[in-house]
Amino acid sequence: MKIECTTTSPATLEADWLVVGAWEGVGGKNSNDALGKLLNPRIAKLRESGDFEGKANELLPIYESAGTGARRILFVGLGKVENCTPMTLSKATGAALRSIARKKFETVAFTLLGDGSKLTPAERTTAVMTGLLVAEGSQDIYRAKKNRKPPETVLLVVSKQDAAVARGRTIGEAVRWTMDLVNHPPIDIYPESFCERVRKEAESLDLSLEVFDAKKLAEEKMGCILGVGKGSDHEPRLLIMKYQGAPGDDRTLALVGKGVTFDSGGLSIKTAEGMMTMKCDMAGAASVVATTIAAARLKLPINILCLTPLAENMPSSRSVKPGDVLTAKNGMTIEVLNTDAEGRLVLSDALAHAVDLGATHIVDVATLTGACMVALGLGTAGVMSNDEAWSKQVLDAASSAGERVWPLPMFEEYDELIRSGIADMKNIGGRWGGAITGAKLLQNFVAEKPWVHIDIAGPAFAEKESPHQDAGGTGFIVRTLIELVSQWTSKKN
Ligand code: BES
Ligand code: ZN
Ligand code: ZN
Repeated sequence: MKIECTTTSPATLEADWLVVGAWEGVGGKNSNDALGKLLNPRIAKLRESGDFEGKANELLPIYESAGTGARRILFVGLGKVENCTPMTLSKATGAALRSIARKKFETVAFTLLGDGSKLTPAERTTAVMTGLLVAEGSQDIYRAKKNRKPPETVLLVVSKQDAAVARGRTIGEAVRWTMDLVNHPPIDIYPESFCERVRKEAESLDLSLEVFDAKKLAEEKMGCILGVGKGSDHEPRLLIMKYQGAPGDDRTLALVGKGVTFDSGGLSIKTAEGMMTMKCDMAGAASVVATTIAAARLKLPINILCLTPLAENMPSSRSVKPGDVLTAKNGMTIEVLNTDAEGRLVLSDALAHAVDLGATHIVDVATLTGACMVALGLGTAGVMSNDEAWSKQVLDAASSAGERVWPLPMFEEYDELIRSGIADMKNIGGRWGGAITGAKLLQNFVAEKPWVHIDIAGPAFAEKESPHQDAGGTGFIVRTLIELVSQWTSKKN
């Protein structure tokens, strides 16, 4: 699918489809240009007759396109104008493209959705570009006969938005890369192959890459990553990628992502059903890598330390056992009472190492707990932190990007739930507050640096498709992280 920008008026632009957005209700004024003048009366009529309300992602194909250069028009609802975020426009774009891509077409033209909202033309351009790239992705990787048939060419009708187009492409590709890596099965993605894929991406960019193998992990005293990885024939790794976009800045942002390439639970083995989607357990790692690569491509003025501990959690005679005590890089000990609570173990070494490497601010992203899904549902990530200002910055970035995240408390009363009889802490906290006790363990490894933990267990992987994207990996949190690193200089903390 080629995406080209054009300033040709939709009145003459030749295409199989012309996609046009419309708000819900009368509050949203639709475009007032020539196309608007032509189509607004028609949209009003469709509203009156009840054929089209303009609800978010609602679609109505029209085969009467007189006055445009297109053969058909697809109206796409944008919801209420006051609720519009970049995500709204991305989703509407995706819904339209995916609906058209059920059949093969040559050319699809998109008007710039979102006219009348509070978003600038640049923000709208970026959002539509992102939506196009994300919707082009699919779970078709291993299918001979593809379900999705993206058009040969998408024409985006925008004027002078080169930077916004490039930004949208970079964000879209970052989300896509994350989705794609999650969708690849564990036969293809294991710690070593994950690193190879990252190496390929990083090669042409201003990034330095270092990978610790098992021997180096032992030298570095990273007993927790090694412990989790012991049961698998695939050795664990720690990937460290550095981007120095602001040499004069004394701040360094560490992005740390859980990279369990498959989570069987280990000896505390999961049920057959519980294991079915556990290729998604490296979504945090993929999303922090994708963000760092995007920052490098956008040449953002920020210093990023990206760390992903990678391990495959498997049962075997070599596995870590319930009752074992592991020693993390910072010397603290963890009693492993459930080998399925492995994410916090691999992250503990990585967080401690981020501190050693000079991180001044930390964000970690992890598919950490089923409990977070119980608390917040499938579409919302949990945010836990030791620093209110830093956490607000992350929450604000998510809100600007239009992704759903919500804070959970970190009161000190929770600390006692992970007290161990034999070690500094234990890796499970019992039935209550499971997302928080996971975060509480992690807190011991950030040395009181401003830190935010984002639990994406719910939104990282979709069991069902939605109008705007396939089931499977969602790339959730990448948009938020790119927003966060983009605002870094303006919001000094
Ligand atoms: N990877 C899982 C969490 C998860 C569950 C992610 C469902 C995505 C979807 C994690 O390693 C895990 O198994 N956590 C346990 C922790 C428990 C043993 C304390 C859980 O949530 O049950
Ligand atoms: Zn687990
Ligand atoms: Zn896991």
